Amino acid sequence: MSLPQSVRDDAVVVERYLGALFNDMNGPANRLADSMRYATMNGGKRLRACLVLAAARLAAGGDLPAGAMAVAASVECLHAYSLVHDDLPAMDDSDTRRGEPSCHIAFDEATAILAGDALQTMAFELLADARTHADGNVRAALVAALARAAGLDGMAGGQMLDLEAESRIMTLDEVRQMQAMKTGALIQYAAAAGGIHGGADATLQSALERYARDLGLAFQIADDLLDYDGDAELLGKPAGQDADRGKGSFVVLMGLESARAAAAELIADAEAALERWGDAAAPLRSIARFAIERQS
Ligand code: IPE
Ligand code: IPE
Ligand code: MG
Ligand code: MG
Ligand code: MG
Repeated sequence: MSLPQSVRDDAVVVERYLGALFNDMNGPANRLADSMRYATMNGGKRLRACLVLAAARLAAGGDLPAGAMAVAASVECLHAYSLVHDDLPAMDDSDTRRGEPSCHIAFDEATAILAGDALQTMAFELLADARTHADGNVRAALVAALARAAGLDGMAGGQMLDLEAESRIMTLDEVRQMQAMKTGALIQYAAAAGGIHGGADATLQSALERYARDLGLAFQIADDLLDYDGDAELLGKPAGQDADRGKGSFVVLMGLESARAAAAELIADAEAALERWGDAAAPLRSIARFAIERQS
């Protein structure tokens, strides 16, 4: 399964945009800048960025609004930070990421902690920049939405629940909540941010959020399935770690087939949420299908 050319083109443009941001960095803390660049410019799928861009185009009625690329780059910085910290010995203790040594292996733990910190603030700096959107209210809405998605009730809170899941049996509802927070919240934010930036009306905005809530959950189920039976080489990160750590997941609680079926059902719901936007929503629908059919 591969993404349509238009979505792949978006990923390439985001890549270039991020590259230029890191190339422009100068200052005394070279080692920190190098570690931030290392953790970001290493071949992620850029799925969250592509969601921002596809949602912004849909909301704006076709063309990409000026400044949307900064929103797309911003969510990738936030995501890269979450991966750097997720891989630390105190968390998942993963030595590889995107096919290369994880940030704390290539540098050291303290540098990786700082790289994550500074990538997170870089994400907010991009959103607050006047070039990202002319309307300060829109910029403030984006900042608030990212803060909610990344914080206590979103990604960071979900990571806390994920760590607790190593030492106690969770119910299916608890796993669902943990996954919606640790992964779903940022994916939901990405689609919502595209809508906010592109000026979506209330109907489209709530459809985007429904679409991405289902997509986010399905995405983490797919991640757990890949951890269970994926190829570490293709994944570019360790496989089989969740089982080794006794981590609660849909795969553990439902079994392989039911987890696959649950992900497929969520993606069908995600696609249905955007039905009335017809062909204009085709890129978002293909991103949703890709989320569960991917091999990495
Ligand atoms: C991996 O995310 C971590 C999760 C939140 C499940 P991705 O699979 O999107 O990672 P990259 O960005 O493509 O490396
Ligand atoms: C990570 O979940 C979620 C984050 C917030 C980073 P995982 O721990 O399952 O992600 P991978 O499998 O290491 O990419
Ligand atoms: Mg983890
Ligand atoms: Mg991990
Ligand atoms: Mg995983």
